[in-house]
Amino acid sequence: MHIAQQKELENDMKKSSRNRLSKQQVELYKGTTLFDRIARAVCRADTLPRKELYEAWEMARRVRRRYRGGRILDFACGHGLLAHIMIILDDSSQMAIAVDKKIPDSAEKLSTALIDTWPRLKNRIIYKQKDIQTIEVQSGDIVVSAHACGSLTDLVLEKAIKKQARVAVLPCCHNVNKSATNQLEGWMDKTLAVDAVRAFKLKSSGYKIVTQKIPSDITPKNRLLMGEYIRSGSEII
Ligand SMILES: C[S@@+](CC[C@H](N)C(=O)[O-])C[C@H]1O[C@@H](n2cnc3c(N)ncnc32)[C@H](O)[C@@H]1O
Repeated sequence: MHIAQQKELENDMKKSSRNRLSKQQVELYKGTTLFDRIARAVCRADTLPRKELYEAWEMARRVRRRYRGGRILDFACGHGLLAHIMIILDDSSQMAIAVDKKIPDSAEKLSTALIDTWPRLKNRIIYKQKDIQTIEVQSGDIVVSAHACGSLTDLVLEKAIKKQARVAVLPCCHNVNKSATNQLEGWMDKTLAVDAVRAFKLKSSGYKIVTQKIPSDITPKNRLLMGEYIRSGSEII
């Protein structure tokens, strides 16, 4: 094998690879774990970058360890894999709504491949091509959002807080002109300041928060912020 081919293969194998998972890669996921089954379905769909499989899986399993049931709102869903995995991991959620202002054409292919493997998902994942601003959150919902760009993550948090719904965000690119840093940038990286302010905002809105990271070999944008409303008037930090 040529060095260039070897390099390409190595890149393909990285969890952070943006290369599309294709039918040829089904054999990479031969195992019997739930993750392997999901990965094989994603490969069969032939539509999603490898990185997005790992991001959605790592986020969903951490969220589901803490928050069960509820309607799932997957905001800025892209292909909507996160919404599907949230239901696969906890069947007590009746429904997931996957919202994006531009749902990719191939989202349906992905959904069909997952429903072929888990027929119980049929009619339970609803895609809505809308601005998240127009979607009403209910208090029993779990709002999830992976890589809602810039200040869109702030909007996701705001909408969840308004209804005291459970929420989990994995912020991506930060718009430090739009998102508050509360002048913390003298001590820390600006993007960390933005996420720290988001965490404190949730906490001061009565939420019990959890801060974690998904593995950095998947994405450097790996800070996961989760919150569950526990009381009004919690202490302000
Ligand atoms: C970086 S992608 C993330 C997609 C997916 N969650 C993922 O992790 O792969 C950000 C998505 O946000 C969507 N988006 C941006 N502004 C939006 C808005 N106001 N309402 C709904 N979706 C929006 C874009 O269309 C895009 O699909």
